[in-house]
Amino acid sequence: MCWIFAYNWKGNSIPLLIDWLRNLEYRGYDSAWVFWVNTSWKFYLEKSIWKVSNLASKVDHSNSKNTIYTNWIAHTRWATHGKVTLENTHPHTSNNDRFYIVHNGIIENYVELKEELSKKYSFYSETDSEVIAKLVDDLYDWDIKNTLERLIKKLIWAYAIVLIDKEHPDTMVWAKLGSPMIVWLWKDGVFLSSDINAINNVADEFTILEDNETVIVENGKYNVYSLWEIINKQTEKIADDFEIADKWDFETFTEKEIHEVPNVLINALKGRINFENKTITNETLEELNTYDIDSIEIIASGSSYFAGVVWWGWFKELAGIKTEIKISSEFLYEKFLPSTSTLYIFISQSGETADVRESLKMVQQKWCLTFWIVNVVWSTIARMADMWLYSHSWIEVWVASTKNIVWQLAVLLLIAISMWNKRDLQNFEAKHLIEKIWELPNLFKEQLKNKEHYKSLAKKYSKYDNFFYLWRNLMYGTAAECSLKLKELSYLHAECYSTWELKHWPLALITPDFPCIAINPKWKLRDKTISNIKEIWARNWTILWVITQGDTLIDIYDDIIEIPDSHELLNPFLPLIPLWIFSVEIAKELGKDIDKPQNLAKSVTVE
Ligand code: AGP
Ligand code: GLU
Repeated sequence: MCWIFAYNWKGNSIPLLIDWLRNLEYRGYDSAWVFWVNTSWKFYLEKSIWKVSNLASKVDHSNSKNTIYTNWIAHTRWATHGKVTLENTHPHTSNNDRFYIVHNGIIENYVELKEELSKKYSFYSETDSEVIAKLVDDLYDWDIKNTLERLIKKLIWAYAIVLIDKEHPDTMVWAKLGSPMIVWLWKDGVFLSSDINAINNVADEFTILEDNETVIVENGKYNVYSLWEIINKQTEKIADDFEIADKWDFETFTEKEIHEVPNVLINALKGRINFENKTITNETLEELNTYDIDSIEIIASGSSYFAGVVWWGWFKELAGIKTEIKISSEFLYEKFLPSTSTLYIFISQSGETADVRESLKMVQQKWCLTFWIVNVVWSTIARMADMWLYSHSWIEVWVASTKNIVWQLAVLLLIAISMWNKRDLQNFEAKHLIEKIWELPNLFKEQLKNKEHYKSLAKKYSKYDNFFYLWRNLMYGTAAECSLKLKELSYLHAECYSTWELKHWPLALITPDFPCIAINPKWKLRDKTISNIKEIWARNWTILWVITQGDTLIDIYDDIIEIPDSHELLNPFLPLIPLWIFSVEIAKELGKDIDKPQNLAKSVTVE
C-alpha cells in the first residue's frame, strides 16, 4: 500500500520524481503529491487525487529551476482511513504548520490518540496519519530525536514515517515499524523509498531498515539509530542486472507478464531439475528432506493462497503428508498450536503482505520450521525465514499476479515430488512426471499462439455480469485463481464452486445469462463431471468448457477452450494462460485499467 519517496540532496530539480511515482504507482493510486523545500522554507507542494498522470499534468517543474532545494518528497496514497479527497491526501501538518509528515501504514490506536489530542488541536482530515503530525507537535521538546522516541512509544503498529520540521528544513527524520523502508545512496544525497524497485536504475547502493530503526538525515549525510544509538548499517551494491520493469511492445504490463510465463518456468526449473537423469537437484529441497516432517501448513493470501490450494491437492496425491492451507489473515489470529514436526510454508510474490509477514514472525517466535516462496529478493519476508526458494521470475510489476503463480506452482510441485521421492515414489513415476514438467514451457508457448480464440470468446462473454467457475478435484485452486483474475481485472462477479455440489444451491442461480466456465480436463472422473454439467445444460445454462485436446465426450456446449494433453497432475497449470487472457480481454472490452484495477495495490503492506 502506498509508496513514499524522500530525497535529501541539494539540487534544483528531480525530473525523475514523477517517473518514479509512475513506476511505483502499482503500490497504490488513490492520490499523489510532490513537495520540495529549501533552507529558507521556500517550498512547492502539488497534490492530486487518483492517478499520478493527474499530478504530472499539474506539477510546475520550472518552479524549482532557480532555487536550490534540500528536501524532496513524493507519495502515492492507498486510503485506509478517510475517503479519496485532497484533504486526506498527505503530507499532514501540525496546527502551527511546523511539522509535515507522510505515513505508510495504519495507526491502530489513532481513535484514542485523536480523542485526547482534539482537546488541544483541530483536525482537518479523516485520516489516522494526521494524528502523527499533531502528536509530534504535542510531544516536541526541542530535540527531534527525543520527540521521535516518545512518539514511537505512543503509536501502535505499522508505519513508515517521513517527518520534516519547518525550523530545520535541511533535515528529515525517517522511522519504520512494519511497513517497508529502504535507504539508497546516490550522487551526494540520501534517498528513502518504500519499495525495492523504486530507483534501482539510478542509485548506487542501499540498505534496508529493520523495525524500530530510525534515520536522521541532514545535508546528504545520514545516521541510522537503533534504540537511539547510532548503528553502522551494511549497504549493498545495486546489482548491474537489477531489472527495470518494461512493457516491451505490449499494451499493458499484465499482458507482457503473461507472455513471460514460458521463460519464467524455464528459469524456475533450471538448476533445480537435472533433465538428463530426470531428478531434482536442489540443495534447499535436499535440506528440507533432512527434517522429520509429519505435517505441513501453507499460509498465504490472494492468488498465492490459491497456488497453495493447488499444491494442497498435489500433496495429498503424492506425498501422503497431512497438509493444511490457511489464509494468512485468519491464521494470524486463530489459536496457534505450534508443532516442531510441522513445516510452515509461506507463499508471497511481494514478500511484503502484512498478514503473511506477521504470521511468519508468529511461527518463528515459537521456534517452528519455516520455508517461504517469494519473488522479491530483498523483501521483508525474504529476509526472515529459515529456508527459501526465490522465484527469479523477474519483476512482477502490476497488480494482477500472473507469471509468478506459475513459478509458485512449479516450485511447490518440486517440493511435493522431492518429499514424495523421500517416502515411497517409484522412481519411474517421478521421472515421467519431471519429463512432462519440462514440456510445459512449450505447451504454454502454443497456448499463447491461441490468443485470438480466447479474445473472441472474451468479446462474446463480456456482455455477462456473472460467471460460475466450476471445478473438480485438483482444479479447485486453478478455478479459484481464474475467477479471482476475472473479478480483479473486469470488476464482474464470478463464483467458484465444485461441479458436484451444483444441486445443493448453485442450480438456483441458473439462467442463460449466468455462464459457467466448466474446467474439466482429462482425469479419472471426467465423465461423471460431464453428466453433472448436462444437468445444467438441460436448464439452458451457457457453458464454456475447458477440456483436454481431443476429448470426444463433449457433445453439449456453447464454446470450448482446449488445453494440451499432459500429465494429469499437471492439469492445474494448463487453464491459466487461456483464462487469464480471457479475463484481460473481457476487462479491455469493458474499458478497465488492466494494470491498475480499482481499489487494489500490488503489495498489501497493511493488515
Ligand atoms: C493477485 O492478482 C492479487 N493482486 C492479490 O490477490 C495477491 O495475490 C495477494 O495480495 C497476495 O500478494 P503476495 O503474493 O505478494 O503476498
Ligand atoms: N493510513 C494512511 C491513510 O489512509 C496511509 C495509507 C497508506 O499506507 O497509503 O492515509
